[in-house]
Amino acid sequence: MRVAAMGDLHVREDNESSYRDLFGEISREADVLVLAGDLTDLGKPKEAELLAQDLKACSIPVIGVLGNHDYECGAHEEVAHILRDAGMRVLDGQSCEIDGVGFVGVKGFAGGFGRRMLGSFGEPAIKQFVGEAMNETLRLENAMRQVKAKRSVVILHYAPVTDTIESEPLEIYPFLGSSRLAETIDRFQVSAIVHGHAHRGRYEGRTPGGQPVYNVARHIEKPGGKPYGILEI
Ligand SMILES: [Fe+2]
Ligand SMILES: [Fe+2]
Repeated sequence: MRVAAMGDLHVREDNESSYRDLFGEISREADVLVLAGDLTDLGKPKEAELLAQDLKACSIPVIGVLGNHDYECGAHEEVAHILRDAGMRVLDGQSCEIDGVGFVGVKGFAGGFGRRMLGSFGEPAIKQFVGEAMNETLRLENAMRQVKAKRSVVILHYAPVTDTIESEPLEIYPFLGSSRLAETIDRFQVSAIVHGHAHRGRYEGRTPGGQPVYNVARHIEKPGGKPYGILEI
């Protein structure tokens, strides 16, 4: 299966960048399109409607997750609803299967990496922050347990490793993702993990367990010179 993956579309109300032509091209290039969050710029329903219009040009299944930008206006449920109406499978702690390949999707959360990860200590606000990261990983684990297929793709918005966020400022690493995501994924065997959120970084990386991770944010340079990556699953 050829999976096209792209994140961080950031569709705006002025709709300066239509994805119609790109979605048409992707439909000829791939069997499935995966979208890794930040589909809208401010999480406005109007932005989701513009993306929904463009998705009509897509003739292959579209699966994805929301990103932090899709939450900005507090209308993420409406955003997801509009995209689901347009035929996209918006995953939020669930899985689905297409032609023998399992897809697991969760937004994920921030918190940092490895030994420097933020711990649940001190003020209630810090504990709540860490709790949100742990909650997302528990939802990821539950979704991964549902997958029966031998081949699978994990779709995240936040980064599970630092490999693919290299060249972002070190100061913001803790806000770009969490190792807790990779620790959970490494308890299972997957074909690929895709994420977005870090607009600067590197296309390819690996989890500590050696599983391939791809930063598919639209802004990241990819092997084909396209804004989307193509994965052979
Ligand atoms: Fe983004
Ligand atoms: Fe983001």
